[in-house]
Amino acid sequence: MPTVTSAPAHAARAARGEARTARRSLAGMSAAWSAALISAWRWLAALNPWLVDSVLASVMTAMGLRLAYGHRYPPPPVRPFDGFGLALSVGSLMVVAVRRRAPLAAVVASSGLVAVFEASGYWVALNQLGPQFAFATLATTRPPRQAAIGALCVAPVILDSNLRLWPDDHLDTIVSTLTWVVLLWVFCDGIRRLGEQARTLADRNARLAELTVRLDREQARNAECAVQEERIRIARELHDVAAHHMSVIAVQAELARFVFDADARAARAALGVIADTGREVLAEMRYLLSALRIDGADDAGPRPMPSLSRVAEVVERVRASGVGLDVVVTGVERPLSEGVDVCAYRIVQESLTNIVKHAPGATATLAIDYQPTHIGIAVVDDGGNAVPAGCAGRGIATERDTGQGLIGMRERARIYGGTLTAGARPRGGFEVALMLPAWGAVSGTVPAAATLPAALSATVPTIVAATAEP
Ligand SMILES: Nc1ncnc2c1ncn2[C@@H]1O[C@H](COP(=O)(O)OP(=O)(O)OP(=O)(O)O)[C@@H](O)[C@H]1O
Ligand SMILES: [Mg+2]
Repeated sequence: MPTVTSAPAHAARAARGEARTARRSLAGMSAAWSAALISAWRWLAALNPWLVDSVLASVMTAMGLRLAYGHRYPPPPVRPFDGFGLALSVGSLMVVAVRRRAPLAAVVASSGLVAVFEASGYWVALNQLGPQFAFATLATTRPPRQAAIGALCVAPVILDSNLRLWPDDHLDTIVSTLTWVVLLWVFCDGIRRLGEQARTLADRNARLAELTVRLDREQARNAECAVQEERIRIARELHDVAAHHMSVIAVQAELARFVFDADARAARAALGVIADTGREVLAEMRYLLSALRIDGADDAGPRPMPSLSRVAEVVERVRASGVGLDVVVTGVERPLSEGVDVCAYRIVQESLTNIVKHAPGATATLAIDYQPTHIGIAVVDDGGNAVPAGCAGRGIATERDTGQGLIGMRERARIYGGTLTAGARPRGGFEVALMLPAWGAVSGTVPAAATLPAALSATVPTIVAATAEP
């Protein structure tokens, strides 16, 4: 059966709906207004606390004076409100303006003025707000000891006023007044603690944020340093591999060009060395790139790490380039730690390459001295009395030589806790001396590299020869 709704009932429901909507919109408006007021107040407080408190004190004073001059002011025997009362009232309320700067002083001053006001016989209901407001600020912002002093100032003033207003039940008035003061204190002290916690938390957060920023910066710096170091390492490896092989190729190419028509066999042999060295450098580069993961190539295949045990290949190539190279090994030959082994190999390789480049046709000695705690290496040449056939008087060093070899050698030695000296010999020629801890960086166990050639010269005759007067 269809529901039949009468016209009056329908109208009543519609009216109720409209009222509900109106209430909702009113509530919405008042919430919006309060939010706007609160944010305006915060903005004002942040803008200038002194100004805000002055406005507040003025408003409180105006309200107090309205009461004092209004019809509610009691007739005698209460003393009529006069100039003295006005001064005391304004003073006790305007003190609120300094409540934040000097809260204890504000409480003491305001309470004192109100006490005089009450003792002078004026209407005691007036001016109660000033001391209480100042006390609330004191308890909210200062430690409990100061708040206790404030309570001792405020409580008698309020008590005196209440006892005069309600003289019938003293005990009840005393209890309720003291309860009010204690409650006000506890409430404000709670706010103070919350504020302190919030401040501590904010401080901690700020410190944390600062630490995070510093950590981020440190990480970025470390990452940058790591990238830089890696770049230098790659450059060093590429330099050592490329410089050695390309130097040999250049020398052999010069030789082949020179003897091309006159000595076909020698030219063919030189081209053979070039082809072998070219293949070797290609394989080394491919291996190096894959080890450094520059090209992501995994197909380089296994290849032995550079090692002093492979130095014979370098020696052969250097000899093929026209350098008369002796190799002398003293001490008990034994395996070295991997890093030290690679380091020693690369330094020998670069020193020998330098002879090919800068002292073509030299007579040279490579001395390797195995000691229990360290390994000593000396590469000494006589400066090139003889030159390879066809390359008379010319090395392959170019104007654009950047001189990275010695820098790289020193860096390698430093990384492994060793020492390296390199330089021209007083009587001609060049020498490189290296001391490395056999098992990596253990400083203090390695003799100075500079002492090495002198020590070796006793056992290695070629070094003596290299130092001998021409
Ligand atoms: N055996 C040597 N005989 C003569 N001079 C040498 C010898 N070794 C090095 N030098 C000199 O020391 C300089 C620095 O050598 P270093 O190995 O650092 O640079 P480079 O060989 O000129 O260039 P790079 O090694 O970067 O290709 C050389 O330019 C050369 O003048
Ligand atoms: Mg060099």
